[in-house]
Amino acid sequence: MSEWTLSLTVDGPERTQALAERLGARLRAGDLLVLTGELGAGKTTFTQGLGRGLGVRPGIISPTFVLVRRHPNVPDGPRPGGPDLVHVDAYRLGSAAEVDDIDLEDTVDTAVTVVEWGTGKVEHLADSRLEIVLERAVGAAAPAPVAMPGAADGAEDDAEDDDAEPRRITLTGIGPRWAGGPPPLDPPGEGPAPGH
Ligand SMILES: Nc1ncnc2c1ncn2[C@@H]1O[C@H](COP(=O)(O)OP(=O)(O)OP(=O)(O)O)[C@@H](O)[C@H]1O
Ligand SMILES: [Mg+2]
Repeated sequence: MSEWTLSLTVDGPERTQALAERLGARLRAGDLLVLTGELGAGKTTFTQGLGRGLGVRPGIISPTFVLVRRHPNVPDGPRPGGPDLVHVDAYRLGSAAEVDDIDLEDTVDTAVTVVEWGTGKVEHLADSRLEIVLERAVGAAAPAPVAMPGAADGAEDDAEDDDAEPRRITLTGIGPRWAGGPPPLDPPGEGPAPGH
C-alpha cells in the first residue's frame, strides 16, 4: 500500500490553521483524516483551519460531548457545492465497534470526515486515509513575552497569540487516494509558480 510522510513545524495556532486551510482547499468528498496528538496539541485548532479551506459553516469546536458534528458547505464560501465536514471526537469511544454505532459510514463517502483520537478506531471506514500527528516541538522554549510598542497597559488579554507555541505536524498519506504524494501546501508565493 502506498505511503508517504511530510513533516512541518508551525509556530502558533494561526500558522497551524493556515496550513490546515491550504490542506482543506485540496480535500475531496470521501477523504478520511485521522488526527493524533495529546490533549491540547491542536487537533481542534487544525480542524478549524480545514473547515475554512473547505468552506463549511464556521463554529468548529471540540465535539467532545456530542461526539459528531456536521458542518455543511456554505454556498458563499470558497468551495460552493463542495463537501461537508463531519468532525468527530473519538476520545471516549473505546473501539471500532463503538465507532460503528455512530454511523459514520453513512456520510464517509460524501463528506470529508475528520476524527480526533481516531487511531485504531476508524481505519476500517475507508481504503485510504490521511494521518495527521500534532506534537509540541521538542526542546522548543515558550516564546518570551514581547513588549508591543504602542500597546496599552493591561492589553495582555487582547493578544491573540499569547499561547503561541511551535508544533510539529506530520502528515502520512495511506492508500490509493493519496498515491500521488502530498498535496502542495506551500504558502502562496513560496511554492513553484503555477502553470510554468
Ligand atoms: N502551533 C499551535 N498549533 C495549534 N494550537 C496551538 C499552537 N500553539 C498554541 N496552541 C494552543 O493550543 C491549544 C490547542 O487546543 P485544541 O483544542 O486545538 O487541542 P486538541 O488537540 O483538540 O485538544 P483535545 O485533545 O482536548 O481535543 C489552543 O489553545 C491553541 O491556541
Ligand atoms: Mg479537540
